[in-house]
Amino acid sequence: MLIDDIEYVIFRHPDLSAVRQFMIDYGLLDVSQEGDSVYLRAYGDAPFSYVTTQGEAAFVGMGFRVASQEALAQLAARFGADIEDCRHPGGGKYFHTIDPDGRRLEFVFGAQRLQPVPCDGAPIAWNDAHAKNRLGRYQRPKYAPSHIQRLGHVAVFSPAPQQIIEWYGENLGMKPSELIHGDNETSVLAAFMHLNKGSEWTDHHTLAIVGAPAPGLEHASFECRDFDDVGMGHMVMQDKQYQHRWGIGRHFYGSQIFDYWTDPAGFHVEHYCDGDMVNEDTQTLRYPFGRDTLLQWGPAFPGI
Ligand SMILES: [Fe+2]
Repeated sequence: MLIDDIEYVIFRHPDLSAVRQFMIDYGLLDVSQEGDSVYLRAYGDAPFSYVTTQGEAAFVGMGFRVASQEALAQLAARFGADIEDCRHPGGGKYFHTIDPDGRRLEFVFGAQRLQPVPCDGAPIAWNDAHAKNRLGRYQRPKYAPSHIQRLGHVAVFSPAPQQIIEWYGENLGMKPSELIHGDNETSVLAAFMHLNKGSEWTDHHTLAIVGAPAPGLEHASFECRDFDDVGMGHMVMQDKQYQHRWGIGRHFYGSQIFDYWTDPAGFHVEHYCDGDMVNEDTQTLRYPFGRDTLLQWGPAFPGI
């Protein structure tokens, strides 16, 4: 196994205080401001999940947590990169490279894990029609921003999706869980790629690759504690009059309950919970593009 998980996203924003406040209201927590970079963390054990640096608005790239020192050495050799001391919070060793679209990729091993931050309440014990799991207790989540547990996945635009899908497969061992194609199966429009963790279960997609005229970010997605955490987060963001993009609904690819917001520079971020898990036995499925595969329920995708 080469990669344990995706760990952080790297942005540039012209107004650091505006995006910091937005992401805190969205459900992240302060770590530090170092020079002209703002670091934010989730409630889980990652040293940080989001970094943005003062500058012209841009999605710069993403960081992965490498599975072992040997895997770090193996990947660095593949990319001809030098392993250095990691300059980010948590430290450890890292190297960086770029993918064929010019996206910055960082690979970190040995960063110090943080103590997870307790969040209000346990995940919901559901009382569904056939199984009552919450007995003698009321479901009363507090009014508060979402309690984001971790960065879950990133969806990127690429002008050459087929080439990028193959690149991430060959170099990082990722495999498509599901593919969207055009008129015939060979014209791939988008892919939902999972990490190769053998028999271990992993997210349906850690990276989604979407064909588009130019490289860019479709969205960065953060896992919330549970369904109430997505819903309450929506209410807080709405009350603060942030720009809503799409949701709440359930996706088709990955099955997540989703809710999208737009940050002050126009980048999309997603709250989600209840995503699918896959492993090495999962077969790649292929579907033609269509609005019925964008979501299973919820409001229509804006503009379609
Ligand atoms: Fe997503």
